Amino acid sequence: MTVCIILVKVQTKRITKLCKTKDIVTINGMYPGPVVYAQEDDRVIITVTNETPYNTTIHWHGVRQMLTCWSDGPAYLTQCPIQAGQSFTHEFTLVQQKGTLFWHAHISWLRGTVHGAIVIYPKTGVPYPFPNPYEEHILILGEYWNNNLVKLEKKILASGGGAPPSDAYTINGYPGPLYNCSEKDVYKIDVIPGKTYLLRIINAALNIELFFSIANHKLTIVEADGEYTKPFTVEQLMITPGQTINVLVEADQPIAKYDMAAGPYMSARFVQFGKNSAIAHFHYSGASLASLGLPARLPVSNDNLAVKKGMDGLRSLNATNLPLEIDTNLFVTIGVNVETCHTLTPNKSCQGPNGGKFAASMNNITFVMPKISLLQAYYDRLRGLYTDDFPQVPLKAYDFVNGAPNSIPNNTQSLNGTRVRVLEYGARVQLVLQDTGIVSTENHPMHLHGYSFYVVGYGTGNYDPRTAKLNLVDPPYMNTIGVPVGGWAAIRFVADNPGVWFMHCHLEIHTSWGLAVAFIVKNGKDPLEALPHPPADLPMC
Ligand code: C2O
Repeated sequence: MTVCIILVKVQTKRITKLCKTKDIVTINGMYPGPVVYAQEDDRVIITVTNETPYNTTIHWHGVRQMLTCWSDGPAYLTQCPIQAGQSFTHEFTLVQQKGTLFWHAHISWLRGTVHGAIVIYPKTGVPYPFPNPYEEHILILGEYWNNNLVKLEKKILASGGGAPPSDAYTINGYPGPLYNCSEKDVYKIDVIPGKTYLLRIINAALNIELFFSIANHKLTIVEADGEYTKPFTVEQLMITPGQTINVLVEADQPIAKYDMAAGPYMSARFVQFGKNSAIAHFHYSGASLASLGLPARLPVSNDNLAVKKGMDGLRSLNATNLPLEIDTNLFVTIGVNVETCHTLTPNKSCQGPNGGKFAASMNNITFVMPKISLLQAYYDRLRGLYTDDFPQVPLKAYDFVNGAPNSIPNNTQSLNGTRVRVLEYGARVQLVLQDTGIVSTENHPMHLHGYSFYVVGYGTGNYDPRTAKLNLVDPPYMNTIGVPVGGWAAIRFVADNPGVWFMHCHLEIHTSWGLAVAFIVKNGKDPLEALPHPPADLPMC
C-alpha cells in the first residue's frame, strides 16, 4: 500500500470561452481539475483549502469510503461546507477499487467547473483483463455556462421555474468548433495508426445525459463505474452524469482526422436541447491538422432504444458478491412534479408550468438539507435535525396511463422533510426505483454514496414483481444508474458500510429540487464495523 498525499486549493480563475471572459471556480486554477492517480488499496490523504468566497466541499464520486464516511464530502450530509479560508483533510483507502472514477464539488452547482478524474491502477503486477493499450486518455464530458453557477441555482430555485440549457457541451473543458469563438478551443488526441487506446470517459455534466461517438471507429466497453465489464462493442454509447465508462479504441482507419462528439440524450419533447454537440479530434499522426474532422454520428436526442441496447450490453466480468437472497426490500418512487406556488410577492406567480413551482421527490418526500451535517447529528445524537420515517411505500398513489413514458400519473405531490431510511448493518438490500414524474423527459441518473450496487433489472412502465426479469448472473456493478424514463430499475447491495449515505439524482437541478434521500447504515457488532470518530478538522456550520 502506498500513501498518496495531495494538497489542493479551491481557487477562482479568469477564463475566456464562448467569446466571454469570466471567473470560474477551479481546483488549483485548472479546468477540468487535476487527476488523482492511485493504485488499488492505496491510502489517499487530500487536504482541500478553500481560497474562494464560496462555501465548498469535494466528493470522491464512486470511492466507497469504507468506514470513512466523514471523508465522503456531500455538504450537509457528512460535513458542513469548507468556508472561505478553511481547510479540510480527507483520508480514505481505495479498498479493492480500481478503474476510472471522478471527484467533484458537492454543494450548490459548483460541480459544473470543479471536477476531475480519479484513475486507480490495478496493483503492481496485476494486468488489465484486456490487451494492454498503447496509451490511455481521459475524456471528461461536461457543460459550460456563461452564468455564475452559484447564482444561477439560487435564481432558478427562487423563480420555481426550470433550468435553462447550458451554453455549450464540452470535452475536457473544450466546446469545439460548433460554438461561437471556439474554432481553436478544441481538444485533440494524437494517435498512431494501428495502435489501441484506452479512453476513460466521464460524464461530469450538470444536467444532461450525453451520447458519445468517434467517427468511423468502434468503441469496446471494458469497464463501467470502476468495475470491469465483459467486452461489448458499440458505435455510440450513452453516459449519464455520474457514470464513468472505459473503452478501447483501435486506430484502424485510414490516416485522417476524426471527430469525437458528445451530444444530448433527452427523451422526447424538449428537443431544443439537441442543438449542438461538443466536438474533439481523434487525430492520426500524418493527417492534416487544417482540415475539418470527419463527422461523428450520434443517435437522435430521444433515441430510447439506443440507450436500452447500451444498458443491455453492460455485464459484469465477475459478479462476485451479488446478493442472491435479499432481506430488505425497498420500493421508492422518484420524480419531478409541480407544486403550488407560494411566493412572498403578491400576484406574482412562479415560473413553472401553469404558474406552479417545480419540485422533485422520492416516495413523495422532497428532501430538505438539514442545518448541520446529518452524519454529525446522527453521531452526536442531536435532536430535531431529521426524522427516521422515510416512507416504506409512496405516500401518494401513482399510475402511468398504460405505462408509457411521459404519460401522466394521477398524483405526485410531495411533502418537504429531512427523512432518512435506517438500514441494519449487513442488510441485503433490493431497492426498486420507479420513475413517476409528470414532467420527466429523461432518465434519472440515481447515484448512491458509499456503495456500488448491482443493477439486476430495469424496464419501462410500472415495476411488477411478478413479471420483472432479473439478471442474477452477470449484472453490472455501478454507482450510478439511469432509471429509464417512465420506467424502473432494481439494484442490490449489502449494507456493510456504516454511516450516512446520500442517494440522489445526478442531474443537479433535480437534487436542487429535492430528488434525494439519505440512508443511515447502523454499526455492526464488531468494533471494526463501527463508524469512527469525526476528524479533528471537520468543518463546522
Ligand atoms: Cu457525484 Cu452525490 O455525487
